[in-house]
Amino acid sequence: MTNKLKLIAGNWKMNGGLVANEALVRAIAQGMAGASCTVAVCVPAPYLHQVNQLRAGTPIELGAQDVSRHEQGAFTGEVSAPMLREFGVRYAIVGHSERRQYHGETDELVAEKAKTALAHGVTPIVCVGETLAEREAGRTQDVVKRQLAAVIHTNGHCISEIVVAYEPVWAIGTGKTATPEQAQEVHALLRAQLKAATPHPERIHILYGGSMNAGNAAALLAQPDIDGGLIGGASLKAPDFLQIIAAASAAAK
Ligand code: PGA
Repeated sequence: MTNKLKLIAGNWKMNGGLVANEALVRAIAQGMAGASCTVAVCVPAPYLHQVNQLRAGTPIELGAQDVSRHEQGAFTGEVSAPMLREFGVRYAIVGHSERRQYHGETDELVAEKAKTALAHGVTPIVCVGETLAEREAGRTQDVVKRQLAAVIHTNGHCISEIVVAYEPVWAIGTGKTATPEQAQEVHALLRAQLKAATPHPERIHILYGGSMNAGNAAALLAQPDIDGGLIGGASLKAPDFLQIIAAASAAAK
């Protein structure tokens, strides 16, 4: 349906260290020579500077894992979009289920964060996804639609510049992946919802996340509406991450 490059984004979560980061970034850069997909690593804030330097001269894009809805001021502990830009950040994950769950982030807050990021040239990777209880209650569609609707409402026509990540909460870090068909069903729904807000929804990357790994990436990425992956655990191991990058490159051909 579209020949845009897939986007493979690693979400390191609260993992890493100066020594490990260097080895990982160097191995990814070396192993991805010739890849035909976009690759990003979303690293903990203290390491943005380090990884920005390590990635210099490589095709690796830099991402953050969160961003403040505010631009500056008395917000202890927060990191602003203009600060991220100073460190070469192109993407910021917003509304990850771990932030929604452990930090009480609401749909409205997530939408505001996406807006502030966009205003400063940082592409938000907006996460949506249902819990196991919501899926079992047949509420998957309602939940993801509600989460995306808030972002569309707040961002208007800028919606064409976001990245969406469908991450079923029950699949994150559990080793349980949505089947390609389950994921595609939700991705198609999200694409249809985006269509009401932008004339070219096919240009928006909709990533799948939740136990994507070297073994299941190719089948997931072969789905028509799966435009890449947001990878947690498997992004911390260079050989695994590189295999996912290879699968994304193969899917583009
Ligand atoms: P996982 O995490 O790949 O370890 O399941 C994905 C995510 O939470 O972004």
